[in-house]
Amino acid sequence: MADADVTVHGESPVDRIEPALHGHFAEHLGRCIYDGVYHDESADGEGYREDVVSALADLEMPVLRWPGGCFADDYHWEDGVGDDRPRRRNLFWAQGREEVPEEPNTFGTHEFLDLCERVGAEPYLAANVGSGDPQEATDWVEYCNYGGDTELADRRRANGREEPSEVQYWGLGNENWGCGGRMSPESYAREYRRFATYVGTTSSHLLDHDLELIACGFSDHEWNRRFMEEVSKSAWGASFPLDHLTLHHYYGRTMSVVEDGPESYDQMLVEALEMDDHVSRIAATIDATATTRDIGVIIDEWGTWHTEAVPEGGLEQPGTPLDGLSAGVVLDIFNHHADVMTMGNIAQTVNVLQCLLETDGDDAWVRPTYRVFDLYAPHQGNDAVQTSVDAPVRETEHGDLPLVGGSASLGADETYLTLTNRDTRGSHTVEVDLVGHEGSPTVTDAAVLFADHDPDAVVDADNAADFAADDLDVGVDTDGTLSVDLEPGTVAGITVE
Ligand code: AHR
Repeated sequence: MADADVTVHGESPVDRIEPALHGHFAEHLGRCIYDGVYHDESADGEGYREDVVSALADLEMPVLRWPGGCFADDYHWEDGVGDDRPRRRNLFWAQGREEVPEEPNTFGTHEFLDLCERVGAEPYLAANVGSGDPQEATDWVEYCNYGGDTELADRRRANGREEPSEVQYWGLGNENWGCGGRMSPESYAREYRRFATYVGTTSSHLLDHDLELIACGFSDHEWNRRFMEEVSKSAWGASFPLDHLTLHHYYGRTMSVVEDGPESYDQMLVEALEMDDHVSRIAATIDATATTRDIGVIIDEWGTWHTEAVPEGGLEQPGTPLDGLSAGVVLDIFNHHADVMTMGNIAQTVNVLQCLLETDGDDAWVRPTYRVFDLYAPHQGNDAVQTSVDAPVRETEHGDLPLVGGSASLGADETYLTLTNRDTRGSHTVEVDLVGHEGSPTVTDAAVLFADHDPDAVVDADNAADFAADDLDVGVDTDGTLSVDLEPGTVAGITVE
């Protein structure tokens, strides 16, 4: 007998699931860029790691944010173009496991834009607000995107990119309440307006495509309210140039991943679920501000940050099925908020924090989180529909943990449903009612991740293949109800026509 009921309200659309909700983030931190996606003596002779790039190209990777993170507000883009690449400090992070905090600048704007083309991702550049100025940010836009005859456009051509790019997403700063300048919301709002004036005018006067300007918010929602109040006070009136407001949400285990016990699994999943509240609250703050702009919510850094991930270790930590499960929990939340969310970027693509891929010398392998992104990819571009879940709840000292969750979306001819069993100690039988589904449903594909795997299993080069998805049995009752048994700590994807 089922102990969890999922109702897919096929006639109650939420909104289109922007593919960018499955976006990524890569910073000059530890072994993310150097060793991760790029190394000087690469097999292809151009610097890129073929193994990593081809695994990323295989994934539907809609957008990639770069170069930080905290690094963005200490980065001067001109250091990373042309033949003269000065070696600089990296104020915040060492490069590599035991490296010095120095930045060789061999990977810069051209290398990043080439990488995006190779993996099929849209670039999202984060400009330096903390230690930079509006001139530098505006010049970067012109260098990348302008097709005319200015010195900057000509320099880009001379450096190898004849055609202008259409880099659409421009972040103005990163965590400017913290490493990006320790600003009050009012002072960041004033800086934001100054930068947006020049970057925004470049967009309207020089380019034939619009830029999407992105401001940094905070997980302190009072900070966001004060920022929005101040940023809206200007001669622009209600049409001030702001297209997206972001925040970052990390969560992790309080002890070492390999020594920790099941209680901390629940604690971490409860913290992952806090994403729901963050999205609702930042969206409410945007709604409360008088603007004629349609401002979207971006979560441009999210994921697990465990005790192991310390700066001296390049923020590296083990990758486990539990991490993958938490990614499913968050991607379902993003679907529920498809009406307000415009992008999400998990931190960080390779080797750092909740990376999708890990490398060691010549080896590269995918982590459980990669497999979850792959499983959720069919949602991209679909219309999210309201999905309610009635499931047992475990009370923990950190908050309540509903033991089953999920989300659903409609494609051209099919419904795609994803489910998570957040109970790492017990199986659950789930019944799914497809309200509004025409005719009797046929399950055309069903897969499950992490069945029979310890949530704590550490994935490495030797065992990574064992974590691929398995087929999942889904029963279809005569009344059209689906029925599925989910083993502990699993993530499932079901296609129904
Ligand atoms: O992702 C690691 C760091 O976390 C980023 O540099 C910063 O933005 C955040 O605090």
